Amino acid sequence: MAFNIAIDGPAGAGKSTIAKRVAKELSYIYVDTGAMYRAMALYFLRKGIQPEDETAISAACDEITVSLSMEHGEQQVFLNGENVNSFIRTEEVGKITSAVSVYGKVRQKLTQLQRDLAEHTDLIMDGRDIGTCVLPKAQVKIYLTASVETRGKRRFLELQEKGAVCEMEQICEDIRGRDEQDMNRKISPLKQAEDAILIDSSEMTIDEVVDRILGIVEEKCR
Ligand code: DC
Repeated sequence: MAFNIAIDGPAGAGKSTIAKRVAKELSYIYVDTGAMYRAMALYFLRKGIQPEDETAISAACDEITVSLSMEHGEQQVFLNGENVNSFIRTEEVGKITSAVSVYGKVRQKLTQLQRDLAEHTDLIMDGRDIGTCVLPKAQVKIYLTASVETRGKRRFLELQEKGAVCEMEQICEDIRGRDEQDMNRKISPLKQAEDAILIDSSEMTIDEVVDRILGIVEEKCR
């Protein structure tokens, strides 16, 4: 049976950075489910479908194939065969993604794909509903969070490094909006699974969080 590690948590908690590092340490595959939702959102955006139009979005789901591959240790996401990695990381796509990921048809499609990936592969998968819905039997579940201020500051420094002009207050506001949307949707909202271990990384370094998770995995394997 494959060993699955689920990491859930709000936007900007550092899930992907941490999950990538843990995956490398364990030689596991890392699956970023947010990127899959982002690829679907990109399709709707390109087609000019409004995020509020559930009927059009549900119909369009049947036109979409999302697939993944690994290149040089990095996950690549394909939308109907096109590698869309370089288009899905914008704030615009992030916001639309959060809005369209509330719909059952969108979630069903990706949930099935994610379960298929995890069935025979040791992996670490991050997202919002991995421990609660996608992989309820994952051997290790982590709920990784940090205060809005910490997440805002991290995102601010990240954007600044890329040369973007941004305002700290606006970033924190966007994070609050995304939390609100992801935590309060009807289907598979973001929440800590009952058997997940909570890690608040507000006062922790990346190394400390990685070590903590590796310790939890080791304990579980013993
Ligand atoms: O992790 P991220 O910022 O790339 O995710 C973008 C959005 O996708 C997030 O705001 C909500 C949605 N998402 C989801 O609903 N379920 C997941 N498992 C992963 C992401």
